[in-house]
Amino acid sequence: MNNKKISASLSGRVSLGHELSVHRLGFGAMRLTGEGIWGPPQNRDSALAVLRRAVELEVNFIDTADSYGPHVSEELIAEALFPYPKGLVIATKGGWNRPGPNQWTHDATPAHLRKAVEGSLKRLRLDRIDVYQLHTPDPVVSLDASVETLAELRNEGKIRLVALSNVTREHIERARKIVPIVSVQNRYSFADREWDYVVDYCESNGIVFIPWFPLGAGKVAGEVLNKIALAHQATPKQVALAWLLKRSPIMLPIPGTSSVEHLEENVASASVPLTDEDYESLADVPALVASR
Ligand SMILES: NC(=O)c1ccc[n+]([C@@H]2O[C@H](COP(=O)([O-])OP(=O)(O)OC[C@H]3O[C@@H](n4cnc5c(N)ncnc54)[C@H](OP(=O)(O)O)[C@@H]3O)[C@@H](O)[C@H]2O)c1
Repeated sequence: MNNKKISASLSGRVSLGHELSVHRLGFGAMRLTGEGIWGPPQNRDSALAVLRRAVELEVNFIDTADSYGPHVSEELIAEALFPYPKGLVIATKGGWNRPGPNQWTHDATPAHLRKAVEGSLKRLRLDRIDVYQLHTPDPVVSLDASVETLAELRNEGKIRLVALSNVTREHIERARKIVPIVSVQNRYSFADREWDYVVDYCESNGIVFIPWFPLGAGKVAGEVLNKIALAHQATPKQVALAWLLKRSPIMLPIPGTSSVEHLEENVASASVPLTDEDYESLADVPALVASR
């Protein structure tokens, strides 16, 4: 791991809907809950310490959802950080129900989303949620009905900015006819580029792209990654995050961890200077793997 200053500010900034500006390296708070994204963490104090350390390292964008725990991730954020430091943006989400560990069932009906927003406001101890993301379109509810509900909640002052997750370009275009969409959160990493075309669409339209599983859930690995990491005296995880930061100026990775040590390692990726050649060789990995 390199020994330079560790700060999310070194990743630069990105604008959410021309209203909020955050550092381009955020934190994903899903991993702070118990096993199966269910229940409280094994060690509450260390989960709180991770959140506090993230803010010390100038992370000012934290991603969460009502379904993480459920409720646990939002409650931990409030317990660790309220009253919130100036400039901290908490982005939460709604649209899932959680009947049990590792179980996720859709509910993006207007009634559920209204209830979900009220619950998140209470748990996060906020009067207004800065960024509210539709967690995923519900196959039995029209996307328009879900997004119209979020637009209404924005007009009522409960949400500042509306965002989407797990969507196609067509979903984004439909939603943007109803309300401005400031960010899109889809699964993405150098090794997992199904949503490349959505990243490009977001870049062309000034929409922030938030890659989830930026570390392939901790499993990114491979020969090319290791070689580049060695050359930069960095770790493979740092190189995977540095690749994302170089991919596009609208990229806002939110690596998740329950460990202060991993958090520090991840934030330090903001100062790993990938060359164009490094970038290209990692960009070629999915095609290389597919041709084997
Ligand atoms: N919108 C959606 O549908 C959706 C879906 C999934 C996730 N998300 C969001 O995206 C965030 C990121 O995704 P993710 O947390 O699932 O996956 P990730 O960031 O790709 O990987 C997290 C996993 O990697 C491990 N890890 C993190 N940093 C590490 C390091 N430096 N060295 C070794 N292992 C490391 C973590 O374990 P340790 O705890 O041991 O560090 C954890 O198991 C989530 O926290 C959540 O906020 C959104």
